[in-house]
Amino acid sequence: MTTHGSPSENLIVVEALVKTFMHMGRKLDVLRGIDLTIAQGEVMAIVGPSGAGKSTLLHCIGTLDLPTKGRIWLDGEEITGLAGAKLAAIRNRSIGFVFQFHHLLPEFNALENVMMPGLIQGRSRADMKKPAQELLDEVGLSERATHRPGELSGGEQQRVALARALVLNPKLLLADEPTGNLDTATSDVMHQLFFDINARHGTSIVVVTHNTVLANSMPRVVRLVDGLLDRDTKDAQAPAEPQAPAESRDA
Ligand SMILES: Nc1ncnc2c1ncn2[C@@H]1O[C@H](COP(=O)(O)OP(=O)(O)OP(=O)(O)O)[C@@H](O)[C@H]1O
Ligand SMILES: [Mg+2]
Repeated sequence: MTTHGSPSENLIVVEALVKTFMHMGRKLDVLRGIDLTIAQGEVMAIVGPSGAGKSTLLHCIGTLDLPTKGRIWLDGEEITGLAGAKLAAIRNRSIGFVFQFHHLLPEFNALENVMMPGLIQGRSRADMKKPAQELLDEVGLSERATHRPGELSGGEQQRVALARALVLNPKLLLADEPTGNLDTATSDVMHQLFFDINARHGTSIVVVTHNTVLANSMPRVVRLVDGLLDRDTKDAQAPAEPQAPAESRDA
């Protein structure tokens, strides 16, 4: 498949991506040649059976894992082949992650957890406090800012994790089964937040999910089966309207 245009036209371009794990002396071909482009401001779901390679693909796009073969561009810059420190800098600047388990720091309160990516980057508490407060407000948790993770419900913890993922105003949000542990009503709140965030900030959002209702509510759904792209609704319909106004992305 040759769907990708010039790497600079898309936020993400994945070309012929292969990931092979060696396990107990055996080669395991987990991604077997994926071509995928993600436009700036696009919202999409990645679906497919357990073991299809969804998380592996997300980790490769998010620079958390290195592909065995193939190339990935982020915002026009090829990230495959970059050294670890450079990758970490790009990850910190451009990508936010939300996982199934929130990985909040238990000894810090909600506000501090949201500020954390900036503090790690060397920015001051004074600098980070306002954007963190604004994001807690956006996810509906300004009343819980001083609660530690253990003093929050599961859905609230996940919303703190979402605020944390967004605090450095990333271009790309990657979420791996972000509502896998939540009840339906709480998941719905979280899903609506993804759409709100996309509309307000123009963030490109990729959500790996087993939730068919959520997937079907997304403008684009990509299905992976056995390490290959089985279906992309983008190929099956006319191009969607842009998802978000080209609003200012200033922090
Ligand atoms: N570090 C590793 N070493 C060896 N095999 C691995 C490793 N990580 C993943 N795998 C294998 O790669 C395959 C794809 O894993 P991946 O986590 O990407 O699946 P997935 O589509 O996200 O599945 P799920 O829906 O269950 O989360 C699985 O069969 C898994 O066992
Ligand atoms: Mg997975």
